[in-house]
Amino acid sequence: MNFPPLKNDLLLKAAKGEDVERTPVWVMRQAGRYLPEFRAVRENHSFFEICQTPELVAKVTLQPIERFDLDAAIIFSDILVVPQALGMTVEMRPGEGPVLPQPLVSPEDIVRLDKSVNVDDKLGYVSKAITLTRTQLDGKVPLIGFAGAPWTLMCYMIEGGGSRTMSKAKRWIYHWPVKSKRLLSIITDVTVNYLTMQAKAGAQLLQVFESNAEFLGPEQFEKFSLPYLREIATRVKSNLINNVTGDSVEVPMTVFAKGAHYALKELSNSDYDIIGLDWTVDPIEARKQVGPTKTLQGNLDPCALYSSVTEIETLAKEMVKKFGKTRYIANLGHGIYPDVNPDHLKFFVDGIHKAST
Ligand code: CP3
Repeated sequence: MNFPPLKNDLLLKAAKGEDVERTPVWVMRQAGRYLPEFRAVRENHSFFEICQTPELVAKVTLQPIERFDLDAAIIFSDILVVPQALGMTVEMRPGEGPVLPQPLVSPEDIVRLDKSVNVDDKLGYVSKAITLTRTQLDGKVPLIGFAGAPWTLMCYMIEGGGSRTMSKAKRWIYHWPVKSKRLLSIITDVTVNYLTMQAKAGAQLLQVFESNAEFLGPEQFEKFSLPYLREIATRVKSNLINNVTGDSVEVPMTVFAKGAHYALKELSNSDYDIIGLDWTVDPIEARKQVGPTKTLQGNLDPCALYSSVTEIETLAKEMVKKFGKTRYIANLGHGIYPDVNPDHLKFFVDGIHKAST
């Protein structure tokens, strides 16, 4: 595909460990409800209607890029489009978040999933949205694609929505470990195809969100999360090298396992280029764990954006100082909250710029 030339490659350089003029910065959930222009679009369209309409996806993906000096765009979508592709109903209820009205109750329910789903067909709208958004970005910044990790998606598919404990999903891994692994493998296969499709459609970096790692301890993480995370990076990269035309697409990959502070070393023993950190991890300790060959991403507490604007700048500068300039991408430690004043994000972004130029 022929896209406009990339004018700002800070993110991709940092991903590869090359020297950068300044630290690249983007923010998880940068397109979302904290932006009045996003809420205006949501007044006329349901959440999944936006996800399924490439023109609307391009519009809301570009909103934060137009407002702030960010170094990457992330495609507007949701991790729950994969359970939808597998045949499950997902509703986005205002004030409640995602609801799956017919969750998987026991392993017999696995047969309900369309495990041989053709991702290019079912999620073709994401592919179209990526191609259109990258074209409209006009090379301003790179476009990030993403997917949910298998354990995190398994949680939603079993819990039927968010949960404080994930005890239903955790019951599966203790009570039905083999069947749980079967489910995780089904999700892994679909996710590999989905991320491969996104890269072929024009995504320039891919992030895998293991947002529910925090509910697993080291042993369960090693059995029910890590192998699937590793498999995804290895298989996606090999798909992109060995595609039928003989072309290869080089796409760096990020793993963000929220709460997996105990597994940073294990996560760095993988084909991911970038390890995302939540705000509970100390940057210097993280670098020790991960070693010199991976890029780190993160990790200011999203709630720090409730500070005064001068304090936000100071916190941003202190963070850059701790991480250092090489192999680092600035971000929050999780997605920005809907009640954050968007002007405050500007001070975060500017603080990163000032600290690193
Ligand atoms: O980062 C971006 O700007 C891209 C868009 C994006 C969304 N969801 C849009 C969204 C991304 C990357 C996601 C990922 C996602 N979705 C994750 C992993 C990241 C994380 O936060 O841990 C998870 C766990 C989900 C599932 C999900 N979708 C939840 C839990 C919710 C409710 C959250 C809430 O704050 O209410 C959603 C809804 C959702 N996804 C919204 C947006 C903008 C808000 C829904 C709305 O507009 O009504």
